[in-house]
Amino acid sequence: MQNNHAAADREEKGRFALMKNIFNSFSRALFGSRDKKEEMVNTLGDLLEEKDEYTYEHTLRVADFVKMIAEELNLSSDETERCVKVGKLHDIGKIIVRDAVLKKEGKLSPEEYQEIKQHVSRIPELFPDNHSLAQIFHLAMYHHEWYNGKGYPFGAKGDEIPLEARVVAVADAWDAMTSRRVYRSSFSHEKALRIMRENSGIQWDPTVVEAFFRVYEKHLCQQAS
Ligand SMILES: [Fe+2]
Repeated sequence: MQNNHAAADREEKGRFALMKNIFNSFSRALFGSRDKKEEMVNTLGDLLEEKDEYTYEHTLRVADFVKMIAEELNLSSDETERCVKVGKLHDIGKIIVRDAVLKKEGKLSPEEYQEIKQHVSRIPELFPDNHSLAQIFHLAMYHHEWYNGKGYPFGAKGDEIPLEARVVAVADAWDAMTSRRVYRSSFSHEKALRIMRENSGIQWDPTVVEAFFRVYEKHLCQQAS
């Protein structure tokens, strides 16, 4: 049994190394223009979809919420575009998390939780060659930071957390709470909104939470909860 697990882990690591090499060669070839960047973001999306469809679809929904929040905050088009790219790529590091952990239906052990956390801390070693998206990868590393400094991997606080990551953190939380998982049903909108209100200024930037509430009133409250 133990041997089977070790073999499965080795196989998964091998598959990941191959995907990473293909992507890095591809990104070196495409280095440069804006359109190509878009293409690279989509290629990474394909990698993530191959790894875990739920996470891939989650990132697409997060990117949509991020765009609406960024517009509500009157961010510039460059800032908005960066926010959306970070939204699409924020969980790209999950391609290195083992399926047994990523898709586990029960509670994670402390070791497994540490492994999940590596989806942000190991981003730089995952894509070392990809200079044209380096800024986006860097920003993605902050999406689990908390406004009060209690998040990970850096323990950054308030404005030390890049704006793009503060916006993505709110959109990420909303989607995580309101989407259904195999192991739990989704939270009602009412419950998710209450959690956001209670943790505004603790986990999330209050200005971003306020912008999200306005987005909710304008675009999301019609959807059945
Ligand atoms: Fe994440």
